[in-house]
Amino acid sequence: MTPDLLEEGARRASAYSRHSKLGKTASGGRAAGFGRLATAGEVDVTHGRILYLEDVSVSFDGFKAINKLSLDIAPGELRCVIGPNGAGKTTMMDIITGKTRPDEGTVFFGSTIDLLRYSEPQIAQMGIGRKFQKPTVFEQLTVFENLELALKTDKGVKPSMFFRLDSGQSDRLAEVLHTIHLADAVTRMAGTLSHGQKQWLEIGMLLMQDPKLLLLDEPVAGMTDEETARTAELFLKLKGQHSLMVVEHDMSFIKSISEIVTVLSEGSVLAQGTLEQVQNDERVIEVYLGR
Ligand SMILES: Nc1ncnc2c1ncn2[C@@H]1O[C@H](COP(=O)(O)OP(=O)(O)OP(=O)(O)O)[C@@H](O)[C@H]1O
Ligand SMILES: [Mg+2]
Repeated sequence: MTPDLLEEGARRASAYSRHSKLGKTASGGRAAGFGRLATAGEVDVTHGRILYLEDVSVSFDGFKAINKLSLDIAPGELRCVIGPNGAGKTTMMDIITGKTRPDEGTVFFGSTIDLLRYSEPQIAQMGIGRKFQKPTVFEQLTVFENLELALKTDKGVKPSMFFRLDSGQSDRLAEVLHTIHLADAVTRMAGTLSHGQKQWLEIGMLLMQDPKLLLLDEPVAGMTDEETARTAELFLKLKGQHSLMVVEHDMSFIKSISEIVTVLSEGSVLAQGTLEQVQNDERVIEVYLGR
């Protein structure tokens, strides 16, 4: 979830609970502020790359967590990233999303947007959505309200509590609900969903903002086998319309979704290729798969 969304959600959740104490309905008949879909600006992918990292390094107290990392992703690609604990996978996502500044290197979104010049909220606004491992949905809001909230990212307009969805937004919400398998749970409080459903809801919240690139850190950790299988279906469906970078340790999940797999180790790319290729790579077996 993006920082501005977290803030708005906390504000809205508390406003809702204050409001319900007054015995009014959420629609309230009030003049509506307008939630606009945050449309990502144009990303220039004419060079065939939506994300491009070159020679990126970052140290924490002298320890090189990312070490001359170079990697790129094509538009619409579903890239899997694997590697041992501490390899720098999450730190790489921190760098792409502006949470961590690298000491050196180049990070581009498309061929013209230098991500190192932008803040974390600006990067989210540009169309890079991030899913952390732990689900961060608003438990006291319904599935519908969580998705509706995700539309409220228009920086120019002071967020207001009540707004009506226009027909395009309503259609999008219905489409997202269907995509994330929660159409039957639209009025349920998010807090009552299973772990897997919460993960899907958070992915749905990201999709409401129509991200160009989605970064997903261990999305199936803690899911049942059935939820994992449905998540694989979901990612395969998203591929093409969005570019995805998926970090996972679950190899059967990776097998079910992967095209190109990148193996990170000690902060840089150790190997890259099909899952079969990297699984047969001696260096990969030694540092990761052979454990
Ligand atoms: N903010 C930070 N301050 C200090 N050290 C950090 C920070 N962020 C990451 N590290 C260190 O950088 C290294 C890489 O961590 P990172 O979380 O990126 O690994 P990972 O590949 O995501 O591992 P895992 O598979 O366990 O999630 C680790 O040694 C970690 O302790
Ligand atoms: Mg990690």
